[in-house]
Amino acid sequence: MDLLGRPLRDLRISVTDRCNFRCVYCMPKEVYGSAHRFLDRRELLTFEEIARVARVFVSAGVRKIRITGGEPLVRRDLERLVGMLAELDVDLTLTTNASLLAAKAQLLADAGLTRITVSLDALDDTVFRALNDVDFPVTRVLEGVDAALAAGLPVKINSVVKRGVNEHEIVPLARYCRDHGLTLRFIEYMDVGHTNGWRLDDVVPAAEIRALLDGTFGIEPLEPAYRGEVAQRWRYRDGAAEVGVITSVTEPFCGDCTRARLSAEGRLFTCLFAVLGHDLRALIRGGASDTVLEEALEGIWRRRDDRYSELRSAATEGLERVEMSYIGG
Ligand SMILES: C[S@@+](CC[C@H](N)C(=O)[O-])C[C@H]1O[C@@H](n2cnc3c(N)ncnc32)[C@H](O)[C@@H]1O
Ligand code: SF4
Repeated sequence: MDLLGRPLRDLRISVTDRCNFRCVYCMPKEVYGSAHRFLDRRELLTFEEIARVARVFVSAGVRKIRITGGEPLVRRDLERLVGMLAELDVDLTLTTNASLLAAKAQLLADAGLTRITVSLDALDDTVFRALNDVDFPVTRVLEGVDAALAAGLPVKINSVVKRGVNEHEIVPLARYCRDHGLTLRFIEYMDVGHTNGWRLDDVVPAAEIRALLDGTFGIEPLEPAYRGEVAQRWRYRDGAAEVGVITSVTEPFCGDCTRARLSAEGRLFTCLFAVLGHDLRALIRGGASDTVLEEALEGIWRRRDDRYSELRSAATEGLERVEMSYIGG
């Protein structure tokens, strides 16, 4: 337990800080252009190092591991890491923009991935191309979703909503997911990092999304499935599928946060809004035993008292924060 009585249950592992998209809310081109310095290959944890750290986390209580990035599928042979993590007894999932998923889905499923989350913020091709800002067509993402389903992977869709950019895509996205029986999570646009120029006015609040979905389809609330669940969940009244909103801005859920985050270079962050992180790579490459690693992890978790989203205010606005593409969401 940490200082606020929260157990360690989830681990998010970022495997790269690179991405083939430049989503306007995450890696705006002006900042992530040719002058941006991405991590060097040698700075990244190897798959063997990641698997070792993950094993230590599992013995400390982690039950769910999510692979993320940057775009995790741009890291070569990612299915090899999936195979190594699948040997741990955890729920193993991955978040992806699905641009490379059509070719990878079967390999990932065969390696032991349990399920997959696809980020998809619009169905309208023009809106989608403008959001990813690399002119990537939405049809290729939908092909990725189909390939994952064909490979037997349960698919969840995540959609960040930004006011004036894709709010008119809420209903079409909901209809698409309903028709395909896919769980959908809208995500309130968050003030992660500093490069996206976030303003509170850009956030479409959960209450507005709920009212829109209820008025269009008719929805009813679902109970949280487990402690630490971050979404408000509803079901369509006809039972077609489930839909929810991750309300990190309007109704923060720090009190139930059971997540740790490992950056691609092996820094451990105990909050999405933390600044520095703890350097586990230095310990690993310095020859630390599993016992030493486990003691370090437990010491960090026991001292944890982060609750940034609950404290979010004018006072937190100027604080330094890591970027979403670095930490992985
Ligand atoms: C950083 S991405 C990494 C994985 C992969 N590249 C993807 O897009 O799914 C993880 C999630 O964070 C979300 N995200 C990025 N920036 C965000 C922001 N400012 N507010 C809310 N969600 C954000 C993305 O939409 C995505 O669902
Ligand atoms: S949200 Fe994902 S796909 Fe979009 S820029 Fe960030 S890391 Fe890349």
